[in-house]
Amino acid sequence: MAKKPPFVAGNWKMHMTIPEAKDLATAVVRASMELPEAEIVLAPPFTALSEVFKIVEESAVQLAAQNLHGEDRGAFTGEVSAPLLKDAGCQYVIIGHSERRQFFGETDAGVNKKISAALKSGVIPIVCIGETPAERERGETMAVVSRQLEGGLEGIALEGFEPMIIAYEPVWAIGTGKTASPAQAEEVHAHIRQDLTRRYGNGPAEYAIILYGGSVKPANAFALLSEKNIDGFLVGGASLEAESFIEIVREAIKAYKEKK
Ligand code: PGA
Repeated sequence: MAKKPPFVAGNWKMHMTIPEAKDLATAVVRASMELPEAEIVLAPPFTALSEVFKIVEESAVQLAAQNLHGEDRGAFTGEVSAPLLKDAGCQYVIIGHSERRQFFGETDAGVNKKISAALKSGVIPIVCIGETPAERERGETMAVVSRQLEGGLEGIALEGFEPMIIAYEPVWAIGTGKTASPAQAEEVHAHIRQDLTRRYGNGPAEYAIILYGGSVKPANAFALLSEKNIDGFLVGGASLEAESFIEIVREAIKAYKEKK
């Protein structure tokens, strides 16, 4: 199925036992039937992927993994590859989340390798970029996101880029309750779209879906998505409860309709 804005993905991180995951996915699927205008994606932990897949399979809700290894197979104890994700029913995979960059040493080159691996197996990358608080204070935000895009997308041809989702997630806003203001987020989203235009041309950059992530809640979703270059959300904390996640989807649909 083709991606479409508004695009709202829930990143469950290291939460949700299998029974909890099944309950949450069931509630989201049920609510999604009345929200066909949005692309809704759930990213459970690896352990719950195949059970959640059974629940979303017959619905429009899509499944994402939170990470993958850059090789297709081999002796990499504890790792999961793109072909295995595809097999588990994943249409998407989150790549280069700031928590992986910060705590697990992921680099732009590693992100690049993972993007290629995902694309080769037909799993669509949701590529995360964003500056740390120190980088923002030093006025390096635009340079950082440009560098992350450049490194992550190196050698990725237009046909690989086209299905891809980009997520701008300022590290200082993730899990902190400190959301970027709509204007702060828009400034960076516009910069990202400019970079993508230089790289892939006007049309592809215009249609690219650029998500915002970092303390998105029902209360701030409408104002953020009303900005021109914000096409959806990557939601952490507020995606762990069906009610708040679905409310964010509703707000996103409302804002998208108004700005169209
Ligand atoms: P948060 O996380 O919504 O809890 O800030 C966002 C993310 O890490 O994707």
